[in-house]
Amino acid sequence: MNDFQSEVKQRIEDIAGNQPLQRHAADFMQASLLPCYSYNYEWLGRPIIQYPQDIVALQELIWQVRPDLIIETGIAHGGSLIFSASMLALLDMVDAIEAGATFDPAQSKRLVLGIDIDIRAHNRAAIEAHPMASRIHMIQGSSIAPDVAAQVCSIAAGYKRVLVCLDSNHTHDHVLAELHAYAPLTSVGSYCVVFDTVVEDMPADMFLDRPWGPDNNPKTAVWEYLKTHPEFEIDKSIQHKLLITVAPDGYLFRKCTN
Ligand SMILES: C[S@@+](CC[C@H](N)C(=O)[O-])C[C@H]1O[C@@H](n2cnc3c(N)ncnc32)[C@H](O)[C@@H]1O
Repeated sequence: MNDFQSEVKQRIEDIAGNQPLQRHAADFMQASLLPCYSYNYEWLGRPIIQYPQDIVALQELIWQVRPDLIIETGIAHGGSLIFSASMLALLDMVDAIEAGATFDPAQSKRLVLGIDIDIRAHNRAAIEAHPMASRIHMIQGSSIAPDVAAQVCSIAAGYKRVLVCLDSNHTHDHVLAELHAYAPLTSVGSYCVVFDTVVEDMPADMFLDRPWGPDNNPKTAVWEYLKTHPEFEIDKSIQHKLLITVAPDGYLFRKCTN
């Protein structure tokens, strides 16, 4: 490791113990969630409901893992699908450069598989009309419906390096069911990213209009799932690095088969 990288690693470890900085970050998270800060961004023209820090973290993971399939629950306006598809397009280009071959998008097998219970017609139309559309396949239905999970498993069987992102209904039971259905598809060395775990760290009265809240959210589901799934570990270095993230304890690294 060169000097720069070891300095970065040390800085990230120091952040973990920097209580004033952690408090400022937590204050920002709380203050920014209410005015829907995460709704302010677009990726290649489509609204993406994420914090920019998490988008950068995903870019780093995609470069590290080089997945050929990204499974995403929760499509909304499609920004996260377009983001993932654009990263896969870059990986295809890099593969071609490394192989000394001509970059031919038509030859790409890399795919983003998105699942949503309600793909609005205008969102579907905009996603299907987007230049990244050829790398995107959408399934409409509840992510925890057995027939939907079966379709996803059957598609995933054709891929080797799989990254999973869970960002749909944020109740404990739903996310736990998603983890049981989709986390096993995560390849060894890849990640299952569970969004909105931050709900656990927020005040109870922040989510009165939602079925989730403290004690009933993606983080409690992750903790429950990990009790019986030692093949995954929380990659804390990501949340320490980001400070601002909706996914504390949500970046799950798959270290072995089981
Ligand atoms: C937070 S948004 C997803 C944001 C998107 N990943 C992005 O980054 O732009 C949550 C989405 O989950 C979908 N959803 C809610 N319940 C669901 C379920 N049971 N199965 C699949 N999708 C669901 C909603 O329709 C909504 O589009």
